[in-house]
Amino acid sequence: MPRPAAGGRIGVLLGAMTLAEKIGQLTMQTADMAISGPGGLTSEYLDAVRAGGVGSMLNLWGAGRVRELQRIAVEETRLGIPLLFGFDVVHGHRTVFPVPLAEAAAFDSDLWERTARAAALEAAADGLSLTFAPMLDVARDPRWGRIVEGPGEDPLVARRFAAAKVRGFQGGDLAAHGSIAATAKHLVGYGAALAGRDYAQADISERELREVYLPPFADAVAAGAAAIMPSFNDLAGVPMTAHRPLLRDLLRGQWGFDGVLISDYNAIAELVQHGVAADFAEAAALALEAGVDIDMMAGAYTQGLPAALERRRIDVALVDEAVLRVLALKERLGLLDDPFGRGVEPSPGPEKAHRALAREAARRSLVLLKNDADVLPLREGARLAVIGPLADAPGEMRGSWYGAGPAEETVSILQGLRAALPEGSLVHARGVAIDGEGPEDIAAAVAAARAADIVLLCLGEAAAMSGEAACRAEPGLPGRQEELAEAVLAAGRPVVLLLACGRPLVASRIIARSAAVLVTWFPGSEGGHAVAEVLRGRANPSGRLPVSWPVATGQIPIFFARRPTGRPADPELHYTSKYLDVPTEPLFPFGHGLSYGRFALEDLRCSAGEVAAGGRLDIEVDLANEGTVAGLQTVFLFIRDPVASVARPVLELKGWQTAWLEPGDRTTLRFELPADELAFLGPDLAPLLEEGGIEILAGPSADRSLLLSTSVRVAKDREH
Ligand code: BGC
Repeated sequence: MPRPAAGGRIGVLLGAMTLAEKIGQLTMQTADMAISGPGGLTSEYLDAVRAGGVGSMLNLWGAGRVRELQRIAVEETRLGIPLLFGFDVVHGHRTVFPVPLAEAAAFDSDLWERTARAAALEAAADGLSLTFAPMLDVARDPRWGRIVEGPGEDPLVARRFAAAKVRGFQGGDLAAHGSIAATAKHLVGYGAALAGRDYAQADISERELREVYLPPFADAVAAGAAAIMPSFNDLAGVPMTAHRPLLRDLLRGQWGFDGVLISDYNAIAELVQHGVAADFAEAAALALEAGVDIDMMAGAYTQGLPAALERRRIDVALVDEAVLRVLALKERLGLLDDPFGRGVEPSPGPEKAHRALAREAARRSLVLLKNDADVLPLREGARLAVIGPLADAPGEMRGSWYGAGPAEETVSILQGLRAALPEGSLVHARGVAIDGEGPEDIAAAVAAARAADIVLLCLGEAAAMSGEAACRAEPGLPGRQEELAEAVLAAGRPVVLLLACGRPLVASRIIARSAAVLVTWFPGSEGGHAVAEVLRGRANPSGRLPVSWPVATGQIPIFFARRPTGRPADPELHYTSKYLDVPTEPLFPFGHGLSYGRFALEDLRCSAGEVAAGGRLDIEVDLANEGTVAGLQTVFLFIRDPVASVARPVLELKGWQTAWLEPGDRTTLRFELPADELAFLGPDLAPLLEEGGIEILAGPSADRSLLLSTSVRVAKDREH
């Protein structure tokens, strides 16, 4: 396992520290600018910082405020060690980009990186040096509120997202004033929370852990992520905050991660509630032994480590190791040389560019689920009724973890449409509240619908209904929204349903009766403008679902990469793997997303019919724009291993390509598929490239009926 170097100035600093100062470096305190966990409000941190009892802060930003606190740390503490300033800069800081699940729908690593870079620049300008992002939890359960924070159901998407976000946040040089340290979170299995309930236990097979949940973190480490946060959950009985085999042995030992492990909020103290520690001393010892360096907000290290040392439960060498890692991060961030380098107010220039980027990202995130009779784009001059509680809700457009982005700088759908359309082309009626009680006027909404040519029905969740501790047993349209929708649909005008959500919403009946459905997610600061562009046909929708969209809650968890069953669903046969009351397939599959116009895919071909270990397949497929509108089209590459020593998923994602095509254009998309990618974990969980046939498939989504297919053989490995 890599041990931090004790030499140089950080070694000297360590040598000069008292035990209390060492524990201080391992302690993260919250300020009161944002609350992200229980009991966050305190202003005692000032005294604690002065006493050298705090090494890092969260929930405090703003150049002036950060500078003042940093000054106290540097000038008024005995050793003058600067603080780290961390915050959940998850999808933007001042400029809010679409929530991660939405941004994932763009399937564009370059975009993912650019938005993280912009967020880093803004955050660093606000004095921050650390973000608790990217969130890389593969999530296949839309009941779990935190599905909104990550890249969806597929490990390959999460892997690419991981690398792009780490690159974006950290830039080429972590010490640069515009770079912030990334924290890949939450390691691991948090998305598999039992019954979709936050903080609940996870029980994952060793295979699933290694094939699905761990790879995004391995890629984050490979990309140089400076920090990692263990998740709140236990994994088969061992809370991740104390999971020595995964944190110390796998992450640090095998993967060579030498960065900082930051506990989740209060998670070390919660080892007591988990039932694996009797008191803080034991909890602190378990976490430190597992390799957790920083105690976020638990006070467990402060209160527990001295006792754990006294009891000889741990050795001070473990404390020193953790302190060295924290100091090394401060050094890498340039804080030891230049504690005040970050924290310059952003100039108007980049901010403007960031707004343009926010609009681009929002546009790219929108997913057109259906568009019967080409009701979209809206025809010029159509009279519009803009109805629903999410039509003019700028604050909600930001989603969860909106950083420091003000609601008043966020463009609602109504504002976006008003800015884009001639005056008098629309009427607006809210209808009902998002949830629960509130002023209602369904009759006015119906009257507005009747007087219009087309209804834009803006329904969905409030931002706070997805995210942390925002799980929903029935992830559908909340409150009286269905009632509103029924009444508006009964008015007989074509309805374009705009869904604001941080998860796929189970709303099959309303979706079926709407002429068109556009998922807007929580699209961020420029969302309203982006939605208006797409509705009017100024932009061609191109987003694709990064999660399967269920027909019914009872289908959850639902994802495309499931294994085959011995009794595939057959409505004619009773004893097959199906439900009596709902279909087995999702309403919309992973990858689904329409655009205006028509794209055709043909002639899937492979460079060779056979591939051997160390070899590579070059795969090509032709894509043509046969419609009348230019657009961006994404094509997915899947494989299927029909006969293997371990049953393989019915589809495995291996890549995707996106191309912009003018009407009449045609292009060839190319994929490289190294033979390694055809290997899997064998019965003993060791990587295995097995002789035999492999199906190669390409197409617009995980809907098997839309995929082109060809096959190759993996040749016998001659060396064995
Ligand atoms: C969340 C983390 C977050 C932290 C700090 C916790 O409750 O689980 O994702 O980074 O709070 O705000």
